[in-house]
Amino acid sequence: MTVLAVHSLFRWVVVVALLARVGRALQARKGAFTPIDKRLGLIAMIAMDLQLLLGLALFFGLSPAVSAAEMDVGAAMKDPYLRFWLVEHGPTMLIAIVLAHVGNVRVRKAADDAAKHKQALIFFGIALVLVLVAMPWPFRPVVGRPLLPGF
Ligand code: HEM
Repeated sequence: MTVLAVHSLFRWVVVVALLARVGRALQARKGAFTPIDKRLGLIAMIAMDLQLLLGLALFFGLSPAVSAAEMDVGAAMKDPYLRFWLVEHGPTMLIAIVLAHVGNVRVRKAADDAAKHKQALIFFGIALVLVLVAMPWPFRPVVGRPLLPGF
């Protein structure tokens, strides 16, 4: 299996982990902050970090789209397909990953349980939106890719 196929499949781990974290923050927002809440935050962050490693390997060498874009960056910026892979997908996902890290720190430092749930909801909620926005969903014109590699 190629790195691109693993990165493509692993997106589902990232999406499910983020949905679980955000869903739990919503559901438990008036209750106690338990070890499950902490664990879900860690799982979402680790899933995103692993996806980042695969993304970096693609971005700095393995990706045909990024390599093609780097041949002529000026021209790539005028091409919606190459521009997406050069400056939209990776950087937006990176911001989402940073938000997950900051979110876990804010959760840890929050004064009480309600504040912890709120911080988790805000930071992981925004991270989830960014991931969904920067995803090459099959219905997206020009940049769309299959939901599973090879399909
Ligand atoms: C939460 C994080 C991320 C998710 C969910 C995600 C998801 C995806 C998906 C679904 C694809 C398409 C795979 C296919 O062709 O089937 C893809 C491709 C790619 N991703 Fe990501 N990604 C993430 C983070 C990143 C980051 C941080 C980078 C760069 C540092 C990156 C760089 C790339 C590159 C270069 C490609 C391949 C372009 C090509 O086909 O040549 N990704 N990603």
